[in-house]
Amino acid sequence: MFLAVNLLVALLLTLTIAPSHAQDAPEVDGNPNLTYNARLGNKDTTTLRGVLTITAAPDGVGVEVHVDFWDFPTEYSGPYAYHIHKARVPDDGNCTATLGHFDPYNRGMTTKCDDSAPETCQLGDLSGKHGYITAANITGNHYRCNYTDDYLSTKRGDTAFFGNLSLVVHAGNDTRLNCGNFNSVPASTPTPASTPTQQPSASLYPVGTSSPPLFIGAASSLGRTSPAAMLMALAAFFL
Ligand SMILES: *[C@@H]1O[C@H](CO)[C@@H](O)[C@H](O)[C@H]1NC(C)=O
Ligand SMILES: *[C@@H]1O[C@H](CO)[C@@H](O)[C@H](O)[C@H]1NC(C)=O
Ligand SMILES: *[C@@H]1O[C@H](CO)[C@@H](O)[C@H](O)[C@H]1NC(C)=O
Ligand SMILES: *[C@@H]1O[C@H](CO)[C@@H](O)[C@H](O)[C@H]1NC(C)=O
Ligand SMILES: *[C@@H]1O[C@H](CO)[C@@H](O)[C@H](O)[C@H]1NC(C)=O
Ligand SMILES: *[C@@H]1O[C@H](CO)[C@@H](O)[C@H](O)[C@H]1NC(C)=O
Repeated sequence: MFLAVNLLVALLLTLTIAPSHAQDAPEVDGNPNLTYNARLGNKDTTTLRGVLTITAAPDGVGVEVHVDFWDFPTEYSGPYAYHIHKARVPDDGNCTATLGHFDPYNRGMTTKCDDSAPETCQLGDLSGKHGYITAANITGNHYRCNYTDDYLSTKRGDTAFFGNLSLVVHAGNDTRLNCGNFNSVPASTPTPASTPTQQPSASLYPVGTSSPPLFIGAASSLGRTSPAAMLMALAAFFL
């Protein structure tokens, strides 16, 4: 009898803690060695910029996340949160259009993420699982950190696949400061197999891998002018 009551209480507690359709995030293994990154947009409305890069972990279990955000706006304060959202940023850069957090296991928003049990958090709640950004962890205008997340997949078609979604950074008062889309990053030696998931478009949200055109232009014009500059320097020397 006593045992039965205990069991009943335990069952009721479980039911009230999580909605019945919610489930824990399973650890992902066998992740293909692929990299995706999301770059924050070039918005007039905020100084905040950054890039978040996610690569399969070397053993294929989960992913490695590299975070670099910079130039946090002075008119806002933290703690800043950042999440993977479930829809992409449209070409107009509207961060609201990314809808809610990536939450394929239906954890919902009511229970705050407990970072000691990350499998119970919304899959896309990266700052909930791995730390919010406060003034204390911004050094020289940058917030940088690296960590492993065991629950995200680099394999298209998996429930936990994030590579076609978006990243949103929120201020302490929840305002969506900036956002950007994940795109695939080709391996360092490009092969025909490593085409981006999406054709690069001339939008505000460039594919993170393509070098900025300005830089290419500057480099190639330097390449053209420097022999001429050297000739002129030689001429100046002999004259
Ligand atoms: C993953 O791919 C990158 C780039 O192609 C390579 O440098 C790296 O060694 C690979 N990692 C593993 C664990 O195979
Ligand atoms: C968030 O803070 C900014 C800057 O102080 C302010 O302009 C904005 O109205 C605030 N938004 C909300 C939802 O409180
Ligand atoms: C941004 O997207 C949201 C949600 O789709 C929409 O309600 C809102 O009107 C859009 N804002 C602008 C400025 O287009
Ligand atoms: C940021 O700094 C706060 C306060 O020192 C600390 O509690 C938190 O763990 C740090 N977060 C990260 C992601 O390093
Ligand atoms: C994160 O990893 C990258 C590449 O391994 C390294 O260059 C960088 O220093 C690391 N950043 C931090 C904050 O540990
Ligand atoms: C992302 O890809 C998954 C397949 O892995 C697909 O089911 C989903 O609809 C895609 N989401 C977006 C926003 O394109």
